[in-house]
Amino acid sequence: MTDIDCQPDAITVSFDGEANLLEALVGAGVPITHLCGGRARCSTCRVRVAAGLDDLSSPTEAEAAMAQRLDFPAEVRLACQATVSAPLTMRRLVLDKADEELASQIGRHGLHGPIGRDIEVAVLFADVAGFTPMAEALPPYDVVHMLNRFFDGASHVIESNGGRVDNYIGDAVLALFGVDDLQQPTVAAIESGLGLLEVARELNHYVERFYGRSFRVRVGVDYGEVVFGLVGAERSARETAIGDVVNVASRLQAANKEVGTEMLVSDSVFSGCRAHIDFGRSFELDLRGKVGRVRAHEVLGVKAPT
Ligand code: FES
Repeated sequence: MTDIDCQPDAITVSFDGEANLLEALVGAGVPITHLCGGRARCSTCRVRVAAGLDDLSSPTEAEAAMAQRLDFPAEVRLACQATVSAPLTMRRLVLDKADEELASQIGRHGLHGPIGRDIEVAVLFADVAGFTPMAEALPPYDVVHMLNRFFDGASHVIESNGGRVDNYIGDAVLALFGVDDLQQPTVAAIESGLGLLEVARELNHYVERFYGRSFRVRVGVDYGEVVFGLVGAERSARETAIGDVVNVASRLQAANKEVGTEMLVSDSVFSGCRAHIDFGRSFELDLRGKVGRVRAHEVLGVKAPT
């Protein structure tokens, strides 16, 4: 007897011998969408295989063409094109009417790009300290000018370290290291963070001189798995990272204020960088939205070559 563990339905489908995956699921009452009737024309029967991928039949020509067109990762398969002969754990990806419409639009308009892939990245979050009172006190055009000067320097630093600026969120910048090939994403993220502190120090001379205010940034870095894919409505969708790592990087950034540091990194960043980076104090922090205390480490600089 072969079992298919089907999520998020929590249904186990059992059968003898081998079976077409879509037919097995439909036969067992799993509500899997299959708008084109199993002809590899719609992609709505797509599933993510968590275990048993190697035992599935290879993609048909039609499935391979669809997978290439939509840039599916290897673990995403069309159920209608796959034959199962060994235990399988999988998750349906088109779950409701809204998913169906989105998948159909992708098929109709040929929107290219990944639907999402799991990757390990270092996430850097940097934010301007005391921005709100400064923005309230200065004319908006001056604030925009100041932020643009910072973002311009920040993007140069991030990109020259092999990272990607993922987003500008108000006065904050979010960057990813490891989406593209990068040997040591955590080291690159920390070196970028140090670069951003330097950009802010230079800008601070200018801001003090012309506005009588200080300009400082705080940085947080975490490392781990995110889902990287297209997020947003069809016309405005863009690639971004979703995951707890992004939240932790943001919370670490905010925690700098509490402990009087400029850059804090998580344990997962710290452990991979000790040969290259000088660390200072360590802290056990309560981070908003996290259960239990999180260990964080202060970054002092890059170690001098020995
Ligand atoms: S049902 Fe349309 S691609 Fe499988």
